Amino acid sequence: MKLYLFGYPLGHSVSPQIHQTFLNQLGLKGEYTLLSCDQEEFERQIDRLKQNQVDGFNITIPYKQEVIKFLDRLDPTAEAIGAVNTVVVEDGEWVGYNTDGLGYVQSLKEHFPELFKRKINVLVLGAGGASRGIIHAILKESIHRLTIANRSLSKAEEIVDLFAGSNQVTTLEASSYQEAEKKIETYDLIINTTSLGMVPNETSQAVQLDGIKKEAIVSDIVYKPLNTQLLKQAKSLGARVHHGHEMLIYQAKLAFEMWSQQTIDLEPIKKDLERKLFRN
Ligand code: ATR
Repeated sequence: MKLYLFGYPLGHSVSPQIHQTFLNQLGLKGEYTLLSCDQEEFERQIDRLKQNQVDGFNITIPYKQEVIKFLDRLDPTAEAIGAVNTVVVEDGEWVGYNTDGLGYVQSLKEHFPELFKRKINVLVLGAGGASRGIIHAILKESIHRLTIANRSLSKAEEIVDLFAGSNQVTTLEASSYQEAEKKIETYDLIINTTSLGMVPNETSQAVQLDGIKKEAIVSDIVYKPLNTQLLKQAKSLGARVHHGHEMLIYQAKLAFEMWSQQTIDLEPIKKDLERKLFRN
């Protein structure tokens, strides 16, 4: 299989190792190649792929929206979010999907199977692309109140408007970080989707967690470092944590399953991937 990842900059992406592990598990021959390209090069490379045989590719920052104009179709999730992270070639057509949110929720449910058994209150920190994907997926679960807190309130309000009416949630609201912090004890699940806590901003976090419920789950999509300041604080307060590499592995799994039309079993490979790729 010929697979690619577009982005800029890609730095030390671990995606090639993740996909190589998937190829190995299914006994498939192939390669997952990083294409770290600037704007001009991005368009040139996309044109080149159109001329050649390709099985599919991933897109990451900053091209998740930009890529849409090159596609033949979008699936409803990618359409709703307005961003694509996976392109699948279906009968010669390029189809855009977004597996970030679905992958994230799948991993959350595997770790905490009891989580959505009752109606919970969720706080999402951040209102960028990752936040949209996660909110779109999580709104299909059992949620009473979902608060989107962001530095720029207008971006959180945009997401509220986008999803208002299309879900069963009792309250969908936008908030500042300060206001969310005042109600921190009301949340069962707190998800950081901002880059706060990621190198080189290791010492920052959007909200302080003092007063959270003991049984709360704090989840961070940052995986560099794995133990962000937010998660360290959550642990020190006795809460349960969910680490950033989970979304990365699960979104990759869903993408690979679409490209290969086969199922990946994470059970025998996940520990090894974690040990090799996420030891920080
Ligand atoms: P992604 O696709 O990873 O979600 P993004 O769309 O650029 O990236 O969104 C980044 C998110 O991190 C936003 O919620 C952003 O807040 P603003 O909308 O207010 O910009 C948040 N973020 C990034 N740097 C931040 C900082 N220094 N302080 C607070 N929030 C920050």
